[in-house]
Amino acid sequence: MNGKSPNGGKWAVIVLAAGKGTRMRSARPKVLHEIGGAPMLHHAMRAAMALEPARLAVVVGHGGEAVAASARALAPDALVCEQAEQRGTGHAVRMAEGALEGFEGDAIVVFGDTPFLSAETFARVAAARAGGADVVALGFEAAEPGKYGRLILSGDRLERIVEAKDATEAELAVTTCNSGVIAADSATLFRLLGRVTDDNAQGEYYLTDVIGLARGEGLDCRAVLCDEAETLGINDRVQLSEAEAIFQARARRAAMLGGATLTDPATTHFSFDTRLGQDVTVGPGTVFGPGVEVADGARIEAYCHLTQCRIGAGSVVGPFARLRGGVEIGANCRIGNFVEMKNVAFGDGAKASHLSYVGDAGVGKGANIGAGTITCNYDGFLKHRTEIGAGAFIGSNSALVAPLSIGPGAYVGSGSVVTQDVPEDALAIARGRQANKPGLAARLREKLAEAKRKMTMN
Ligand code: UD1
Ligand code: CA
Repeated sequence: MNGKSPNGGKWAVIVLAAGKGTRMRSARPKVLHEIGGAPMLHHAMRAAMALEPARLAVVVGHGGEAVAASARALAPDALVCEQAEQRGTGHAVRMAEGALEGFEGDAIVVFGDTPFLSAETFARVAAARAGGADVVALGFEAAEPGKYGRLILSGDRLERIVEAKDATEAELAVTTCNSGVIAADSATLFRLLGRVTDDNAQGEYYLTDVIGLARGEGLDCRAVLCDEAETLGINDRVQLSEAEAIFQARARRAAMLGGATLTDPATTHFSFDTRLGQDVTVGPGTVFGPGVEVADGARIEAYCHLTQCRIGAGSVVGPFARLRGGVEIGANCRIGNFVEMKNVAFGDGAKASHLSYVGDAGVGKGANIGAGTITCNYDGFLKHRTEIGAGAFIGSNSALVAPLSIGPGAYVGSGSVVTQDVPEDALAIARGRQANKPGLAARLREKLAEAKRKMTMN
């Protein structure tokens, strides 16, 4: 992936994420709003990280601590740089100068609110540097150029970038626009940025001014163009929802082309990391939260909500199942309707076919969890585990009060409240004993009928 630039393909990535995102009208920093279950910041970082950067700097400002923590969650080595006051993209990049001290190689600037740039596009920018261009800007043909900066080209050469607010009528007619991504030798970039002023319509230090300055020094500047869909930036919640729709459309397509059947794709919701094996079938209305992996041939019936779980080959889950996290379902299992699970290792061939809550539990191979079984894992203070051995049978409507261990092959009678461990192959019955009173029902009926008659006479 690493394009060989004159610097040997060594990259530093600078992510700009200091802006407030006023139009989101949110207490949360803009770049932490999510698309496909991951902050847009991660989407932006992930594609640039395909360059295998030697350094990754993230410029933060509004909500700095939260943004920094999120960046480190994805890239633990991320260098966090603070921009106290948002004085423009050029000013923001300068905040990363300290983080790149001693670094020799190329720097590439990306925006934290532009989540759809692809690794392939970054590779093409790298290739343009490798091809000898001193400064490379990533542009696109805009359907509606509007507020975007315009790329002023003469032939193949990029002469300058002019912001819409500073542009002449003639410049505004240009439809080739700036995405925001700029790459150059790191030392060259910071040297040029040192010469940028805020003498413009917005009184900001524009990153884009480095192009004109570079040309003034006789450096070679080039534009690499990508599809407009990749450069989509997010400024408000309408655009956020549009970005989500784009993400979902791509994820559905990728899943289907990858060999999964989606019965009603428009209603299947994916996360950034959902993985479906071959011949997986997904019924309508399912939500894949983060961290879901479904093995070959498994079937997810309609209206399931799955998060942080692995589902083994050939298993059937749902309809209406809820796997809440930390769940490992083995091969050929059956998880039926209205079953909720959390933090469970569920052995091959085991079944929980109806109406159960199984939490903090290990369930052995081939065990059967009857309808209405509840693991009582929480006493109001601590969570406790339930271990159910292979081949055990838990009768319907049982309450398993943890901590509890039920041995392999054991049998729990329906309606039991089990508070003590059950040994291997034992039968546990923990419920009131049944007593039959011959003829009592008929006598009861007579008495009640007589009482009713008296009442209606009065
Ligand atoms: C920028 C480009 C414009 C391009 C457009 C593409 C400049 C001067 N203009 O304009 O040519 O067409 O993006 O979307 O670069 N940021 C900071 N600190 C700041 C200012 C911005 O970190 O002081 C960050 C923002 O959080 C955001 C990114 O930089 O992630 C872009 O800033 P924004 O104000 O949205 O730039 P535009 O005006 O859209
Ligand atoms: Ca913007």
